[in-house]
Amino acid sequence: MNKYEMNFDQRNEALKDFFGGHEGEEITEQMFGRILQFQELMLKYRCAIREITTKLEILNDELSHTSEHNPIESIQSRVKRPYSIARKLSKKGLPLTVESIAENLNDVAGIRVICPFINDIYSVVEMLLNQDDVFLIDLKDYIKKPKPNGYRSLHLIIEIPVFFSSNKENVRVEIQIRTVAMDFWASLEHQIQYKNDTSDVQKISSELKECADIIADTDKRMQKLRDLMFPKTK
Ligand code: GTP
Ligand code: MG
Repeated sequence: MNKYEMNFDQRNEALKDFFGGHEGEEITEQMFGRILQFQELMLKYRCAIREITTKLEILNDELSHTSEHNPIESIQSRVKRPYSIARKLSKKGLPLTVESIAENLNDVAGIRVICPFINDIYSVVEMLLNQDDVFLIDLKDYIKKPKPNGYRSLHLIIEIPVFFSSNKENVRVEIQIRTVAMDFWASLEHQIQYKNDTSDVQKISSELKECADIIADTDKRMQKLRDLMFPKTK
């Protein structure tokens, strides 16, 4: 049985997955092949997420052992949903194909790392980029240069090799690293895009910006306090 052969139930499940359960869709063999190619690509992204997550967990374990400080509070990850992938490609005027996804999108695999303190963010970046199988594609420091709305985080696009039974694939992953406070802010701010009432939105946006600045100031003060309390481990 080659990898594109499936029994009826497996095939039905795969199709339901892909089309969100629309019944009665006429699927050609060619379309079916593309769906399987798509699922194979998503598998690569899931594997890359596991690789990076393990690297981060190892760093965190090592540091909590040597310095009794966990630079990572938590790690979240997700693979972009098919609908969001399609929406992003069409917004950019790019073809909706498996090749186009792999070539043009950097954030299909996404990892969010939440750190207690600002300096932890920079330690995590340094430790990760020092590993010789992690290749930096892009770095955006929205902590040193916040977005106009007040958004702060450090963003990395990296490439990592994932080893399969007969080949090695370089896979791209977006990593967002931020403090607990920045994450708290970003989660609420993210929801503003679902608000339609324009008068409210203006007021909310300016309040949010003010909160972002207060949060940034608090993060800095917490870092100073930590440095005072633990001068050796900063
Ligand atoms: P996309 O926005 O993903 O097309 O990429 P980009 O090239 O603009 O990259 P950027 O690094 O600016 O943003 C990538 C991701 O960071 C977004 O998809 C969001 O998850 C997050 N992000 C960026 N800006 C904001 C923001 O203002 N608010 C919130 N809540 N999240 C943001
Ligand atoms: Mg994105």
